[in-house]
Amino acid sequence: MDGGKLSALERLTEGLGPAELYWIAAWSAARAEQLQRGSAPLQPMRQAGEQLTILYGSQTGQAKRIAGQLHARAEAAGLAVRLVRADSYAQRDLVQETLLIVVISTQGDAEPPDDARALVEFVLGKRAPRLARLRYAVLGLGDSSYPEFCAIGRQLDARLAELGAARLAPLGEADVDVDAVAKPWSEDAFERARQALGSSTPVPRVAALQPVPSRLAHSRERPFEAAVLDNQRIVARDAQRDVRHVELSLEGSGLTYEPGDAVGVWPDNPLALVEQWLAWLQLDGEQRVRHDGRELSLHRWLTRERELTRLSRPLVAALAEASGDEQLAQLLRPDQASRLAVLLAEDQPIDLWRRHPVRWSAEELVAVLRPQTPRLYSIASSQKVVGEEVHLTVAVVDYLAHGERHWGAASSFIAAAGDDRLPLFIESNERFRLPRDDARDIIMIGPGTGVAPFRAFVQERRESGARGRNWLFFGNRHFTSEFLYQVEWQAALREGSLHRLDLAFSRDDAQKVYVQQRLREQGRELYAWLQEGAHLYVCGDASRMAKDVNSALIDVAVTHGGQTQEQAREWLSVLLQQGRYARDVY
Ligand SMILES: Cc1cc2nc3c(=O)[nH]c(=O)nc-3n(C[C@H](O)[C@H](O)[C@H](O)COP(=O)(O)OP(=O)(O)OC[C@H]3O[C@@H](n4cnc5c(N)ncnc54)[C@H](O)[C@@H]3O)c2cc1C
Ligand SMILES: Cc1cc2nc3c(=O)[nH]c(=O)nc-3n(C[C@H](O)[C@H](O)[C@H](O)COP(=O)(O)O)c2cc1C
Repeated sequence: MDGGKLSALERLTEGLGPAELYWIAAWSAARAEQLQRGSAPLQPMRQAGEQLTILYGSQTGQAKRIAGQLHARAEAAGLAVRLVRADSYAQRDLVQETLLIVVISTQGDAEPPDDARALVEFVLGKRAPRLARLRYAVLGLGDSSYPEFCAIGRQLDARLAELGAARLAPLGEADVDVDAVAKPWSEDAFERARQALGSSTPVPRVAALQPVPSRLAHSRERPFEAAVLDNQRIVARDAQRDVRHVELSLEGSGLTYEPGDAVGVWPDNPLALVEQWLAWLQLDGEQRVRHDGRELSLHRWLTRERELTRLSRPLVAALAEASGDEQLAQLLRPDQASRLAVLLAEDQPIDLWRRHPVRWSAEELVAVLRPQTPRLYSIASSQKVVGEEVHLTVAVVDYLAHGERHWGAASSFIAAAGDDRLPLFIESNERFRLPRDDARDIIMIGPGTGVAPFRAFVQERRESGARGRNWLFFGNRHFTSEFLYQVEWQAALREGSLHRLDLAFSRDDAQKVYVQQRLREQGRELYAWLQEGAHLYVCGDASRMAKDVNSALIDVAVTHGGQTQEQAREWLSVLLQQGRYARDVY
């Protein structure tokens, strides 16, 4: 191409984002093919007014990733398409919609992700309109270890049909190995949407749509191998659980992050656990195993590629079938959901296998175990302070059960990392962000490792000279052994980058004290801060803490704001929708 045309092209594409540039690349490829065949130029690709809306609700980024990929695919194929996060979707648009794809995860106790709460409530509620013009497809994301698998996806799919809409594609239900279901489902939904839009546009080959590989582009699929700069225990020797402060180098990766983001780590399973599996099944780790078009040694499959530490419903089902054990099979019945949930939470695959030994071959074992998945860790540093580093706070899962040592895959992998490199990527979280207006106060509730993102928040606000006040609620079991980052918080209080610190150590006195009690005790002031526009953040344990904190906040609004329980719930839900009450719980 001559210089003049190149400059014209550069001018034309100035300011365009990656999605638009890929669209142009794909359009050009299709156009080139047509020119070569001598066919007519491309026509506008949509019927007037019709477009595909891809809507996502996501807590930890998976649904967002899948929806984003589907959007890029549709855009590159020339479909009229828009991608909308559920909390940015105008509910009144729903009645006008003709083609809709929803990708949504389920969170604790069959709840929607925070960004989709209002929309899900609206669709499931009495005010939802008739949707006779709509064709739709829902992809639910979930984890079959939870009793209510993909509950929100299922509810939305059923409700949209009830409102008169027609299914474009059957409901998809993706388990933790998300892509195994999401990829073929997306391909099918895309094809159906393309046909529904009546597009005559030739679809450029997928190869032409892949982002151009770049040395700098690191992602979930292409993690960066980060050097470990520091890995220190930050609890006393006698603490019940090891907690690590880990510093990793991002030098040369091109990766950047914001306070509130998380790091995803792809773990290797503990070698001792891999050896246990091989010994119990009397299999040779060196033997080659072919699965899904790849051939690796069995050792490698078990170390890198397969989930060995988390039990799942499909694995229980496979063991029940292979062992012929009636009692195990009964656990899979709907009326046994709570017993199954206990089993999934308390046992690891090897525990169950020991109780129901089955002689699987190497091929069968690789096929029956799920693919490994990365684990997320909240980022505990601000790049304004640490530059090309990222810091994490990791509680190490390492416990005795049934007389044997058990490990968590990622936390023990990180804890053992010395000179090794950790394969990681950045998972951004736009819903867990500091207020844009730096004069706003912030209230941070982060017991245990939930404190991690607040170390990043306080660093960031100090460096940027934010004007608002910072209030931290922290709790753990013991003051002397488990006060994470004690010295840093005390220094921050002295220098004025932390304005208030309230502590709750649950096992120091006969009576247990948790952060939610401190919230109630400080209720008057807490409510006053919120009335003045403070932003509220909660991070850490989802199973109990986040719910108890939510109840404490309702009590605070009732006691100090004169609200009824109902009004207080509504007030919190408005704060959540406004992004002034953000949660990052796990
Ligand atoms: C958005 C987000 C942010 C997060 N941030 C952090 C963070 O900042 N710091 C942090 O430490 N974690 C964080 N986590 C949790 C983290 O991702 C991992 O889930 C955690 O480290 C455990 O992973 P693992 O691979 O070590 O254990 P896994 O291999 O995933 O699990 C171990 C298995 O052991 C079972 N088990 C049975 N008994 C026990 C027992 N007594 N103790 C533990 N497990 C038992 C569990 O059910 C589980 O199936 C975050 C999670 C999310 C989603
Ligand atoms: C705190 C928590 C609670 C969860 N609860 C459920 C649940 O009740 N049912 C389910 O199917 N999946 C549950 N999951 C699994 C998520 O839906 C699954 O990890 C999904 O891939 C996340 O998608 P997202 O990153 O788009 O939010 C839960 C995950 C977390 C972290």
